Amino acid sequence: MTAPSATWPRRVGGLELRPPTRDDLEQVLVWRNRPEVTRWLLRTTVEPEAFVKAWLDAVEDPDQHAVVAVLDGRVVATGSLDVHDGMGQFDGDEWRGSEGLLGYLVDPACAGRGFATDIARALLDLAFTELELHRVTAGCFADNHASWRVMEKLGMRREQHGVRDSWHAELGWIDGYTYAILAEEWASSVA
Ligand SMILES: CC(C)(COP(=O)(O)OP(=O)(O)OC[C@H]1O[C@@H](n2cnc3c(N)ncnc32)[C@H](O)[C@@H]1OP(=O)(O)O)[C@@H](O)C(=O)NCCC(=O)NCCS
Repeated sequence: MTAPSATWPRRVGGLELRPPTRDDLEQVLVWRNRPEVTRWLLRTTVEPEAFVKAWLDAVEDPDQHAVVAVLDGRVVATGSLDVHDGMGQFDGDEWRGSEGLLGYLVDPACAGRGFATDIARALLDLAFTELELHRVTAGCFADNHASWRVMEKLGMRREQHGVRDSWHAELGWIDGYTYAILAEEWASSVA
């Protein structure tokens, strides 16, 4: 089942979220491969043209909601919500396209200003009010405090603490977290 299409732009805080253009992605590439950005990412350094192509392809994919966050005409962050199947018995199809996977990256020059929290809030609102998803999850390395603080501030639950389940190129096997939130939890948190 393909999720309903999303409406853009969306505004949150002082940010405008919208699908990226090639020019937007060129702006992201100025900081995307910096060590402070890649340190806790799974996909660390990216090849610029492949990065641009992947994001522009995502704009055409109804199950990928990939956006840039623009502040005063400048791209300061990216966000993504990828819709995928949840777990379920084959007797029904409610689980098809029922879950979203959340992600965010902020220009290090703009960190600590609440932008990741604003972007995640907007994407959770999209997930539950417009796309009518059942559940949204996100994962991070346990040492990525800023990332899991964003999720906790929005009411996401730490569902899994994976002990040395995550491979890091410099640190080896280290702990990982999975966070999740259900539609009904989101509804009661914003009520
Ligand atoms: C993680 C990241 C998205 C956070 O973005 P941000 O816009 O700075 O986040 P916010 O300002 O919305 O909130 C960050 C929260 O983490 C806290 N925080 C920031 N840096 C921290 C650190 N080094 N240790 C502990 N907490 C930290 C902030 O204090 C804030 O929490 P608070 O409101 O309780 O004080 C950003 O640093 C980033 O893009 N990092 C590189 C890419 C990345 O790791 N993405 C996530 C992959 S899972």
